[in-house]
Amino acid sequence: MSQNIFLLSLLVSLSAAVAQVINFTAINTTPETAGGAIFTRQVGTNYTCHVMSNATNFIWTSVFRETTNGSRRDFSNVTLLVKDMDGVAYTSDNEISLSAQYVGNYSDGGNDVRREVAGVVYHEMTHVWQWMGGGQGDIAPGGLIEGIADFVRLRAGLAPPPGRWVKPGEGDKWDQGYDVTAMFLDYCDGLRNDGFVAELNKKLRDGYNVTFFKELLGKSVDELWKDYKAKYGK
Ligand SMILES: *[C@@H]1O[C@H](CO)[C@@H](O)[C@H](O)[C@H]1NC(C)=O
Ligand SMILES: *[C@@H]1O[C@H](CO)[C@@H](O)[C@H](O)[C@H]1NC(C)=O
Ligand SMILES: *[C@@H]1O[C@H](CO)[C@@H](O)[C@H](O)[C@H]1NC(C)=O
Ligand SMILES: *[C@@H]1O[C@H](CO)[C@@H](O)[C@H](O)[C@H]1NC(C)=O
Ligand SMILES: *[C@@H]1O[C@H](CO)[C@@H](O)[C@H](O)[C@H]1NC(C)=O
Ligand SMILES: *[C@@H]1O[C@H](CO)[C@@H](O)[C@H](O)[C@H]1NC(C)=O
Ligand SMILES: *[C@@H]1O[C@H](CO)[C@@H](O)[C@H](O)[C@H]1NC(C)=O
Repeated sequence: MSQNIFLLSLLVSLSAAVAQVINFTAINTTPETAGGAIFTRQVGTNYTCHVMSNATNFIWTSVFRETTNGSRRDFSNVTLLVKDMDGVAYTSDNEISLSAQYVGNYSDGGNDVRREVAGVVYHEMTHVWQWMGGGQGDIAPGGLIEGIADFVRLRAGLAPPPGRWVKPGEGDKWDQGYDVTAMFLDYCDGLRNDGFVAELNKKLRDGYNVTFFKELLGKSVDELWKDYKAKYGK
């Protein structure tokens, strides 16, 4: 296999009776660019594929607690493409695109680019597996979807180095997205011992209603946000 492509099959055991195979593929489509060459030298498709597989296990088992295959989104394969593009990364269904330019620039000044790619992959892999509303109901707000993805990154111990994310309690509104919403969800998750984010994700299978917060935690999202800000003196 060329170093620009790597394929890994993961056998996931969900219970004694059920196992499922998922194929992960990572492809560097732009090895000749500056960023693509840095990706090859400092990250690699093999490493990335292993992170994709580990992230999947972590998301299903530790965060979403989806123990039956009927409860999860159904993809038999996930592909990650390293591309010569702007931005950081995006996900469409089961295909992730990662910016070689971002990787190349991030490596400046001796930053830990492998760890950053792992964090980005955990975030994007959450988009592959998370429910986002829809079905017969409303679609979840973008800020909540992005917040859940960063919550996974936070829980995996892959938050960026200090200074790049807000601190707990910071931010203007609960659905601001990304780090702000992730920190708020972390607070909410601590209020239920069976995993608030896991229960929220289950509800998001069929639709979205802001009342989900009240149904799961007994308080409206606005009350929760107030409590959260007060806890951190903000
Ligand atoms: C850094 O980003 C700029 C703008 O996106 C891009 O042109 C350049 O190639 C990147 N550098 C590396 C080493 O990838
Ligand atoms: C992929 O990386 C792992 C360590 O992360 C190593 O054990 C394995 O030999 C590598 N596989 C290939 C084909 O390079
Ligand atoms: C994937 O998880 C295994 C088991 O926890 C660990 O040994 C390995 O280092 C992880 N690989 C990567 C690339 O994170
Ligand atoms: C669970 O996964 C197995 C293996 O992929 C498949 O044969 C079975 O149909 C799945 N069951 C459900 C309820 O999706
Ligand atoms: C995974 O990839 C292997 C090798 O290409 C293939 O034989 C297998 O059918 C694939 N499995 C799934 C579930 O896509
Ligand atoms: C990969 O997943 C897509 C979307 O679910 C599916 O259409 C495609 O057939 C799968 N490819 C393989 C090789 O299994
Ligand atoms: C959300 O739930 C409330 C209370 O059950 C209901 O009155 C409202 O119509 C729902 N909103 C949407 C958009 O479904």
